[in-house]
Amino acid sequence: MTLFIQEFRRANAASIVAVAGIPGKPRDFFQFGTVFVADYLITQGIQLNSQQVGRAQGFFATSSLDGANLQLLFSLGFTNKEYNGSTLELQGTSVQLAKVREIAVVSGTRKFRFVKGYATLETIQQPSMDYSVRRFNITIRQC
Ligand SMILES: *[C@@H]1O[C@H](CO)[C@@H](O)[C@H](O)[C@H]1NC(C)=O
Ligand SMILES: *[C@@H]1O[C@H](CO)[C@@H](O)[C@H](O)[C@H]1NC(C)=O
Repeated sequence: MTLFIQEFRRANAASIVAVAGIPGKPRDFFQFGTVFVADYLITQGIQLNSQQVGRAQGFFATSSLDGANLQLLFSLGFTNKEYNGSTLELQGTSVQLAKVREIAVVSGTRKFRFVKGYATLETIQQPSMDYSVRRFNITIRQC
């Protein structure tokens, strides 16, 4: 399945916020030790007003000393008709500057019990500094 992650970074309506970091260091994506909590709208199409599929909610942390990698740990909770109430659990290292990042689909709940797979992430639109869209291709298999 191909889905789209809608990210906002506006101060009063951000999809992602830095909640912890090394004292005295900036809390940004390339600073080792920064921890973020995120709640993203997931849509069927690239447009913000296309059909809503669910939300991706979880934790990210800049996990390499050189700041290059982000550890992702989140649930994709579906709210669309087909998978309403089911989740996929995703985890992995995102090499932030790579064009395509790949993480694991560890498993899921309800309709996705016992699944495994992988997901790719690509930033495909960044119309402004505080809004971007990522394409999220998920390949899963029931095992
Ligand atoms: C999804 O499930 C919730 C809770 O059971 C329900 O309120 C909602 O209407 C459902 N949504 C869809 C799209 O079926
Ligand atoms: C994601 O899926 C789209 C088609 O839906 C394809 O064009 C694109 O190349 C895929 N991206 C990756 C990284 O496989």
